[in-house]
Amino acid sequence: MTSKGITRDPGEADGLRRQLLGPKRYEVLSLGDIIEAGRVLTGDPQGMALYGLAPTDWYGRGVRLLGRTCVEATPDSTARPIARTAHALLGRGERVGVVDLFAGSGNLLLHIARALAAQALGLEADDAVWTQTAANLRIVGATASVRHADWTSYFDDPINVDTTMYVLSPPWGEAFSFAHGLDVTRTNPPLPLIVDAIAAQDRSAHCYALVQHTPVEPVLNMSTVTEGHTVVGAGQGCIVIRICR
Ligand SMILES: C[S@@+](CC[C@H](N)C(=O)[O-])C[C@H]1O[C@@H](n2cnc3c(N)ncnc32)[C@H](O)[C@@H]1O
Repeated sequence: MTSKGITRDPGEADGLRRQLLGPKRYEVLSLGDIIEAGRVLTGDPQGMALYGLAPTDWYGRGVRLLGRTCVEATPDSTARPIARTAHALLGRGERVGVVDLFAGSGNLLLHIARALAAQALGLEADDAVWTQTAANLRIVGATASVRHADWTSYFDDPINVDTTMYVLSPPWGEAFSFAHGLDVTRTNPPLPLIVDAIAAQDRSAHCYALVQHTPVEPVLNMSTVTEGHTVVGAGQGCIVIRICR
């Protein structure tokens, strides 16, 4: 399957995804594994570029990825167009915060925060992922902070900004396959539930949710996420809604 410069064979990509989310979930991957993942998941051996660096560069600096994060991370090639969509909507305003409730590698958070010149905060519940990501962000000198916490805890201690851009990229798990696409009602947790929680608990003056989806495969049931809200942006791999309260 080829789209938006990404080429992948769904069967081969699903096979690798099962490995990385299963037996290799917490394995620290070698550079060879990363190059192979780039080839299978994006059609480009350099496809797992992160933090603005090619795999050989970030690996050489000491950045490492666990199996699950390798397949769950939003690489530069996907994160850049998403960040452009966010920038087209908000520009570089004052007192804007980007909150990624499911930070993973932190890469999507960094790209969007950089594009908006905004404060960046992530939450990551998985102990091993959080430890690796915190180390990686230190190595690349990123200013974003990532709390080791469940996403629901954010509302107990939110950042003090006028505009909050939530980034929503929860684990897709059984909700996604390269063969069949993404069902946004079956992510873990389901995307409509996350949007409802934000609408009920966010207290900033202006509030948006950027929902990452796949730029290539079909996306199912997005109307359950947008229902009751206004879609204010859409681009390759994402939609943005204004949260109405
Ligand atoms: C799809 S990945 C996010 C990838 C991210 N966009 C990136 O650029 O790397 C989802 C992440 O959410 C984390 N996660 C799962 N359940 C969570 C929860 N209840 N609260 C916070 N993080 C959670 C997972 O450990 C995983 O690292």
